[in-house]
Amino acid sequence: MTVREFAPAKINLSLHVTGRRADGYHLLDSLVAFCSVGDWILAGKAPEMRLAVAGPRAEGVPLGPENLVLRAAGLMAGAPAALTLEKHLPAAAGIGGGSSDAAATLRALSRLHDAPLPAPEAVLGLGADVPVCLAGRGCRMGGIGERIAPLEAPLPPLGVVLVNPGIDVPTPAVFKALAVRDNAPMPEALPPLRAFDPVVAFLAAQRNDLEAPARAIAPAIGEVLAAIAATKGCGLARMSGSGATCFGLYETEAAAASAAEALRGRSGWWVAAGRILP
Ligand code: C5P
Repeated sequence: MTVREFAPAKINLSLHVTGRRADGYHLLDSLVAFCSVGDWILAGKAPEMRLAVAGPRAEGVPLGPENLVLRAAGLMAGAPAALTLEKHLPAAAGIGGGSSDAAATLRALSRLHDAPLPAPEAVLGLGADVPVCLAGRGCRMGGIGERIAPLEAPLPPLGVVLVNPGIDVPTPAVFKALAVRDNAPMPEALPPLRAFDPVVAFLAAQRNDLEAPARAIAPAIGEVLAAIAATKGCGLARMSGSGATCFGLYETEAAAASAAEALRGRSGWWVAAGRILP
C-alpha cells in the first residue's frame, strides 16, 4: 500500500506582527489559506525510514537530518516508511514548503500505520508554521504559530497566482530587520469571507508586516508585487510569510491562470496558478 498526501502551499493572506517573546520569537496574527499548488508526499511501508526526493524542484533539497520530512518522520519512529517527496514549491520562500511537507509526512505516516499524530508541542518544535499546515485549511493563526482557529466558514475557491523572484530570503533576517514589533492585530471578529469582493475588501485593510523588511533585503519583491498588481482582475497583491513569494487574488481560477501566463517568461521567476482550498 502506498499513501499519497498533498502538501499545499501556505499563503499568509495577512500577517500582523503583534509582539515579541522573551525568547526572540514573534507573536503573530495571521489569516492563513492553502492553495491547490503544492508538493506531494508518498509513503509505503518499509523496514526503516528512508527518503527520496523527486519532482521539478528536487534540486538542492537537503537529504540530511535537517530535512523537515525526516525530522517529522522522526516523531513517528514506530511507523517506518519509504518516503518520496515530490517537490514542486520553491524552498525558503514564505509559502511553507518545508512545513507543509512535514505536516503531510505526519498525515501520511499516521494513515499508513494507523498511528496517532504527535503531540502539538512536538509538532510546533518542527517549525512555527507546521501546526497550521497540519490543520491544512483556512485558519486564523496566533501565538508564534501554535494557536490555530479554523475559520467558521470555508474560504471561497478564489483564483491565486504565486510568484517567486528566485531569491532566498532567510526568515530570521527578515524578523531581525523588522522595525516595529508591536503592530495592531486584525479586528477581533472577522467579517464573513464568502466571496471575492468581501475577501479583497477585508484583506486590503490588513497587512503583511514582514513585507517592508523583506523588500529592504530583496528589492525584487517590489517588482514582483507591481507586476502581479498590474495583471487583469487582480484584487490584491501581497507577500506571503517572510517572502520572497508574493501572491495575487482573482475572482476565478481561470483569471489567475491568464494572469500567470502574463507573468511567465521573466528570467528566474517561478510562477504558479491555482485556487484557494476551502
Ligand atoms: O520556527 P521556524 O523555524 O519556522 O522559524 C524560523 C525563524 O523565524 C526563527 O528562528 C525566528 O527567528 C523567526 N520566527 C519568529 N517568530 C515566529 C516564527 C519564526 O521570530 N513566530
